[in-house]
Amino acid sequence: MRVAFVGPPGVGKGTQAQRLAERRGVVKISTGDVLREAVRQGTPLGVRAKSFMDAGSLVPNELVIGMLEERLKADDTRQGYLLDGFPRTIAQAEALGTMLEARGEALDRVIAFEADPEVIVDRLSGRRGCPRCGKVYHLRFDPSNAGTRCEACGAELVQRDDDREATVRRRLAVYQEETAPLLTYYRKRGLLARIDGSAPIDDVAARLDEVLSVPRPV
Ligand code: AP5
Repeated sequence: MRVAFVGPPGVGKGTQAQRLAERRGVVKISTGDVLREAVRQGTPLGVRAKSFMDAGSLVPNELVIGMLEERLKADDTRQGYLLDGFPRTIAQAEALGTMLEARGEALDRVIAFEADPEVIVDRLSGRRGCPRCGKVYHLRFDPSNAGTRCEACGAELVQRDDDREATVRRRLAVYQEETAPLLTYYRKRGLLARIDGSAPIDDVAARLDEVLSVPRPV
């Protein structure tokens, strides 16, 4: 399975990616998670990426493309992968196409998750995440069974810096301007499937399984 998830911030890409990766036993590659880890560790990539992320802007293409290229070299990508949050621009999509062609591979599907901005702002204000293992929760919609701690590893849950309302609105605008054109790009290539991300988590997961069970049109 080689699938990419596209959609506005907070639509549920990470939540569904985490669950689908567990169900299918494939690796989830979230460029947002990789970048946050680089920022946390203070690597050269993290230092360069931080100001863009804090502002709610996209990290420059050349940095993210190089990062993904490196990540795809790992052995755990041989059985397939689920790209969460990559590509996000036409330039990234073209670079991905070239990378996959060189590997003799192609994407099976691109899933576009959709939801209204009000739903998104509500979700992101209640989102909490585990700084140690990356598991994502929501105070109301998907709470941890361990209260303010991660039920998987016990770390204290935190709120992301870029989940403040002003930054969320900026991220939504950036999505419309820079990422939404990918929907037409992948629709023209017969790869796009749209999913209503505003439904409850289990319903979205069921719909996703349904979409992925249909072979892509040739
Ligand atoms: P990234 O981490 O990818 O952020 P994002 O795309 O803005 O997406 P989010 O992680 O905010 O949301 P999500 O759709 O995963 O929602 P989630 O499942 O958590 O990127 C962060 C930054 O890194 C970017 O702004 C950019 O600077 C940089 N970056 C990353 N990739 C890049 C790239 N390719 N190029 C350039 N820059 C890049 O759900 C949200 C909340 O809602 C959670 O609390 C969850 O529990 C809850 N929830 C989820 N689904 C449901 C549901 N169905 N019902 C109710 N609640 C739900």
